[in-house]
Amino acid sequence: MAKMWAGRTDGATEKIADDFNSSIHFDSRMYRQDITGSMAHAAMLAAKNIITADEADTLIGGLEGILSDLESDKLDFDMDCEDIHMFVEQVLTERLGDVGKKLHTARSRNDQVALDIRMYLRDEADDIIALLKKLVNSVTDKAEEYKGTIMPGYTHLQRAQPITFGHHLMAYSMMLLRDIDRISDCKKRMNISPIGCCALAGTTYDTDRRFEAEKLGFDGICLNSLDGVSDRDFCAELLSAFSILMMHLSRFSEEIILWSSWEFKFVELSDAYTTGSSIMPQKKNPDMAELVRGKTGRVYGDLMALLTALKGLPLAYNKDMQEDKESIFDACDTVKMCLQVFDGMIATMKPIPENMMKAAQGGFINATDLADYLVKKGLPFRSAYKISGQIVACCIADGLVLETLPLDVYKSYSDLFDEDLYNEIDLNTCVSKRISEGGTSVGSVEAQIKFVRGKI
Ligand code: ARG
Repeated sequence: MAKMWAGRTDGATEKIADDFNSSIHFDSRMYRQDITGSMAHAAMLAAKNIITADEADTLIGGLEGILSDLESDKLDFDMDCEDIHMFVEQVLTERLGDVGKKLHTARSRNDQVALDIRMYLRDEADDIIALLKKLVNSVTDKAEEYKGTIMPGYTHLQRAQPITFGHHLMAYSMMLLRDIDRISDCKKRMNISPIGCCALAGTTYDTDRRFEAEKLGFDGICLNSLDGVSDRDFCAELLSAFSILMMHLSRFSEEIILWSSWEFKFVELSDAYTTGSSIMPQKKNPDMAELVRGKTGRVYGDLMALLTALKGLPLAYNKDMQEDKESIFDACDTVKMCLQVFDGMIATMKPIPENMMKAAQGGFINATDLADYLVKKGLPFRSAYKISGQIVACCIADGLVLETLPLDVYKSYSDLFDEDLYNEIDLNTCVSKRISEGGTSVGSVEAQIKFVRGKI
């Protein structure tokens, strides 16, 4: 079939060139945005007397028909079309005749595609924010349930100080809350309309860009037409926000993988979110968490692909920019899938408080509290730190822990030690005394929970 742009050339391209050039197999997913955008465009053309009101009605009716036929599977995408924009215009012209050809007045595919992506991504961003809120709720519910469950907190993956499982989980709630913020912030710059920038230079028709922007729910218009058609910052920003979000999910996944190993056994994942091995009958593998960790690399790759595609482009539109879509679509799909699976995995995960407590008791994680005990009795912290370290070494040599070391041995290190030290180094005391804002005490964690719930 002759190309819609045939004119200067006869439009007879090689099949391999067509296949290479065409984007309909991935941009067809923007059909709704493309059609909605075109309806607003037709309305604007009529409002500015560029076409008649009757023509606009005919165009809008035709576009509505295409939309409903696509949604009810009465119309299939024609994969011989170059892209979604050409497809819609082609069907419209087939159905309406010459009036269909009027739609593309005062518009170019360059501003049209920029419009479609912005509209598509703002919907995706909303969906992803909703999924994130659901996940934050699940994590925060678990945190509430286990706000009194003691576990070792780690630095360098070495047992460091006692915390609660609720406290640990709330760290992730905070991270995910920032992800919501970042995506919402990114939406502000995304929700600016490029339509009317036309090919690059604007148009000689007396158009009303703001009318169209408002009709489509945008907060403003791109103020430079070259920028309007070549700006993909909002894609890069969104992919950056997704990359950070995936990094968070990946760190969480890594912990879940560790926690569900026999070495830790802090949590038991639901059978519904694990898999078995084809050869080792005893295995229960945390595949979902591993895949989320793995797919993080894929989203980073999408960001890199986009940034790299953009870095050498002169203004304004270049065909390289067609490459933006597969990266952003892949990232959106991946993030949505990961968030849903992750939510189910967290909601059904069973923490095992006994094992957390056992681990908390074995690693001298109350040694800081022992030093603090001496400080409170007047010793400078560095001296207290040294004595506590020597006592830990003594315990290790004798196969004891701080709780079981006799008082006379303590006294041989410092006569500041007394019977009350045992209460001071009790793990429950260590946790309940950390009442600083953001700290691990039940009260502090409850305040964090309240903050997060207030935010969503
Ligand atoms: N399919 C193209 C894209 O995704 C649409 C814009 C084409 N514009 C052009 N001048 N060839 O970028």
